[in-house]
Amino acid sequence: MKALNLHAVGDLRYEEVPTPVREEGEVLLKVKACGICGSDIPRIFKKGTYHFPTIPGHEFAGEIVDADKPELIGKKAAVFPLLPCRKCASCQVGEYAQCSDYDYYGSRRDGAYAEYIAVKEWNLVPFEGISYEEAAMCEPAAVALHAIGLADIKIGDTVAIFGAGPIGSMLGLWAKASGAARVILCDIDPTKVEFAAKMGFDAVNSAQTDAAEYIKSVTGGRGADACIEGAGASQTWECCIKSVKSFGHVVCMGNPFGDMTLSQGCYSQLLRKQLTLRGTWNSSYNDAHNDWRTALDAISKHIIDVRPLVSHRFALEDYQKAFDMILGRKEFYSKVMFIPA
Ligand SMILES: NC(=O)c1ccc[n+]([C@@H]2O[C@H](COP(=O)([O-])OP(=O)(O)OC[C@H]3O[C@@H](n4cnc5c(N)ncnc54)[C@H](O)[C@@H]3O)[C@@H](O)[C@H]2O)c1
Ligand SMILES: [Zn+2]
Ligand SMILES: [Zn+2]
Repeated sequence: MKALNLHAVGDLRYEEVPTPVREEGEVLLKVKACGICGSDIPRIFKKGTYHFPTIPGHEFAGEIVDADKPELIGKKAAVFPLLPCRKCASCQVGEYAQCSDYDYYGSRRDGAYAEYIAVKEWNLVPFEGISYEEAAMCEPAAVALHAIGLADIKIGDTVAIFGAGPIGSMLGLWAKASGAARVILCDIDPTKVEFAAKMGFDAVNSAQTDAAEYIKSVTGGRGADACIEGAGASQTWECCIKSVKSFGHVVCMGNPFGDMTLSQGCYSQLLRKQLTLRGTWNSSYNDAHNDWRTALDAISKHIIDVRPLVSHRFALEDYQKAFDMILGRKEFYSKVMFIPA
C-alpha cells in the first residue's frame, strides 16, 4: 500500500510499505479520511516520533474490510487512537487518557496517513449516516467536548475562547450547544477571525483589540462566565484570567509554546476572583463517560456541524502541497484532510 512514512525529522516520504496484517482482535480498516492535527506539524518537522520510521495520523475514519467477526466487514468507524496499558491506576478506573504506559496510533505506532491500518476492535467507534470526513473530525471534537465539560457552562452564559483553530472553533460550537448565549472567539490571525465571524461567533482580533476590555464591555463589566485557553501562549492565559468573572472558570487546553507565566497583577486576580482553573487532557473513552460516542452522536444529528471546518483536502501523494500551505500560513485553513485513494 501507499503511505506517508516519517524516516527522520523533516523526512516524510510517500512510499510503498507492506499492507498491515491484522492480528486477532484487530480489524483492517481502509482509511477514507485522516485529518492533519496541529501536533503532527512539530512531530514531522521538529521533534520527531518515538522511533523511525513511523506513519503519522491519528484523526481518522474508514471502512472495515477484514475482521474476526464477519458482521463488522463493510461497517464504517472512527478510531480512538490511544491503546491503554490496562494495568495502571488510571486504566483501572477507565480514564485511559491518563494511562502511564500507553501506545498511540500515529505517534508511538503507525497511524493513518496510509491506505490501510490495522486497529483493535476496542478502539472502533462505529457510525453511519455521516461522511468519513465528519467522522474523522470526531477526535478533535471529542477533545473540545472534554474541555467544554470542564468549563461549567450554563444556559445563557458568555463563553470566551482564545485561539480560533479547528479545536477552538469546535469549542465554540459545543459552547453554543451547551446553551451559551454569547460565544466570543479571539485570535491574532485575521483569516481565523474572519472565519469565526462567518461561523456566527462574536469574533475578536486580539492583535488589534484589547480582548479583555471588549469582553468586559459586552458583559456589563462582569466578565465572561468561562474562558478557555486554546492557543498555548502566556498572553492568552493572562487574557483568560483578566476576562473571566469572579468565581468563573478558566480551562487550560492549548499546548504551551514555552514557559507559561503570569504577571503579578494577573496572579492576584486569580486569587481575588476565586477562580477555578482547570487543565484538560484528551478525552474520556469509557462506558460511563465517553466523549467519542457523544461527539459522534452530536455530529450525526448535526447538533454541531463540523463540515464547514474542513477547509482543504489532499491526496496522500500531494502531502508536500498540504504541508507547504500549512507552514506558509499565507491562506486561511482550518482542518486539512488527507483523503487516501
Ligand atoms: N489539552 C489537550 O488535550 C489538547 C488536545 C489537542 C490539542 N490541544 C491544543 O489545543 C490548541 C488548539 O488546537 P487547534 O488544533 O485548534 O490548534 P491550532 O494551532 O490550529 O490553533 C491555534 C490558534 O491559536 C491562535 N493563536 C496563537 N497565538 C495566539 C495569541 N497570542 N492570541 C490569540 N490567538 C492565538 C492561532 O492563530 C491559531 O488560530 C493547540 O494548542 C493544541 O496543541 C490540546
Ligand atoms: Zn489530534
Ligand atoms: Zn494504563
